[in-house]
Amino acid sequence: MSRPAAPCLPVVGSDTRVPLVDGRTVTYANLDCAASAPALRAVADRVAEVLPLYASVHRGAGYLSQVSTALYEASRRTIGGFVGAREEDVTIITRNTTDSLNLLAGCVPTGPDGEPGRVLVLDVEHHANLLPWQRSDGGATVVVGRESVAATLDALRTELAAAPHALVAITGASNVTGESLPLADVVRIAHDAGARVAVDGAQLVPHRPFSLAATGVDYVSFSGHKTYAPFGAGALVGRRDWLDVGRPYLAGGGAVRQVGIDDVAWAPAPARHEAGSPNVVGAVALAAACDALAALPDGALERHEAVLRERLVTGLEGVPGVEIVRAWADSVDPVAVVTFSVVGHDPGLVAAYLSAEHGIGVRDGRFCAHPLLARLGYDAGAVRASVGVGTTLDEVDRLVGALAAYVAHGPTARYEVVDGCWSVVDDPRPLPDVTGLTGLVGTAAAALGAAGSACGPAPAATGPAQHADAVELARV
Ligand SMILES: Cc1ncc(COP(=O)(O)O)c(C=O)c1O
Repeated sequence: MSRPAAPCLPVVGSDTRVPLVDGRTVTYANLDCAASAPALRAVADRVAEVLPLYASVHRGAGYLSQVSTALYEASRRTIGGFVGAREEDVTIITRNTTDSLNLLAGCVPTGPDGEPGRVLVLDVEHHANLLPWQRSDGGATVVVGRESVAATLDALRTELAAAPHALVAITGASNVTGESLPLADVVRIAHDAGARVAVDGAQLVPHRPFSLAATGVDYVSFSGHKTYAPFGAGALVGRRDWLDVGRPYLAGGGAVRQVGIDDVAWAPAPARHEAGSPNVVGAVALAAACDALAALPDGALERHEAVLRERLVTGLEGVPGVEIVRAWADSVDPVAVVTFSVVGHDPGLVAAYLSAEHGIGVRDGRFCAHPLLARLGYDAGAVRASVGVGTTLDEVDRLVGALAAYVAHGPTARYEVVDGCWSVVDDPRPLPDVTGLTGLVGTAAAALGAAGSACGPAPAATGPAQHADAVELARV
C-alpha cells in the first residue's frame, strides 16, 4: 500500500479531477512540472490581493500607478535576492528563460581582438540555451558531452584553452535527466580561461536554492511558469556591465533616455531591455513564489525531491523493459526530472495511455534537446516524469503501477496517431465545463500535433508515411 508524502507547499489544482476513457474520474497526477509547474497557493493569493491595485506603471501619475510601480520594482528586488544577486548585479524581468537567454545573447561583447565574443555550450542543452548562441554574432562552440563528469569538464577546459570564449552557457540542471555538472568546477574552469558563466536555471532554480554570489556564476536565467508562478514573467539576473551597454533587447518606449528623429540615447539596464509595458502581475507572482520557496526550512526542498526521485527511479527500474536516460554515469544530486524509455514502445503511446487510462500527466518526445537525445540513442524520443513541491509519493507510485500494468498487459483503450500525435480512438473524455472549451481532449492534442511541435520524434519517425510504422512499433 502506498504512503502519500505531504507536499512541501500547497499548489492550486492539486485536487482537480480528470476523466478517464473508461468513464471514471481520478485526481490528476501532474508529473510534468519540469514543463510548467502549477501555481503555488501563495502565488494565487498574492495575485488576487494585488489585482485591485493594478494600474499603469512607471509613468503614471495616479496613486495606483505609483503603487503598481512600487510593487513591480519591489518584485524585481525580491527576484534578484532569491538568486543571490550581488550588489552590482541587475535583474531584468523577461517572459521566460528563452527570452532571458536571447536577451543575453545580444549583450556578449567583442573580445580584445575586436572579434565578436564566442560562447561555449554543451550538447546537453535545451534549445533555449543553444540556438540563441548559435545565431549570435560570435557564434557558439558546441562541446559534445563525455560519459563522465570529469571527462566532460576536461573537454570544456581543452576547448577553452584552444580558443578564447567570452562566455560558457551551461544548464544548471538538464531538463532531460535532471543532472548537471558541478557549477563550482565550471565556474573555475571558465574564469581561469577568461570566460564568464551563464547558467540556464530553468530546471535548477525551482528545485534547489541557488546563489550567484555564492557560486560566482555571472548570469542566471529562469522562468516563472516553472517556478510555480505561471503569470508570464521570467528573469535574467547578473553582471551589470554587459547588460548596460549591450544591444537593447526590444526597441520601444521605456528603454530610452531621449529620442530624436535620427538618434536615440538608450537607458542602462534594466530599462534598456524592458521596452514596452512591463508584466507587473507576472513579476509580482514570481516574487511571491520566490518568497514562498525561500521561506521553506533549510533542506526541505532538497529532501522532498530526493525522496520522490529515489522512489521514482527505484520504481521505474523495477518495471521490466524500462530504461532510465542518463547523460553522465557519475553525476551527483540530480533534480527530480527523470526521463525513461519503455524499450520497444512508442513514447507517445505510453504518455497517451498514462493520461487516458490513469489520469497521469507526463511528457514525451525529445524535450527540446534534440542533440542530447540523438547522442544518447533516443531519436524516437522518450517519456519524462518530473515532480514539484506539490507532488506526493502516491502520485509517483501511481505512475510506476500504471507503467507496470502497461508492460504486463498493454493499453486497454484503442489508440491511433492523428497528425503525429497519439490519441484515443473516439475519445469519450469531455473537456471541463469552462467557457470557450468545446470538443474532446483528443481534438486538442491533435491540434497540437498538426501545429508540428518539433519536440516529438526525429523527422525520420514522423510524417504521414511513418505513422503506420509508429503504430506497428507501438503494438509490438
Ligand atoms: C533547461 C531548460 N532551459 C530552458 C527552457 C526554456 O524555458 P521557457 O520555455 O520557460 O523559456 C526549458 C523549458 O523546458 C528548460 O527546461
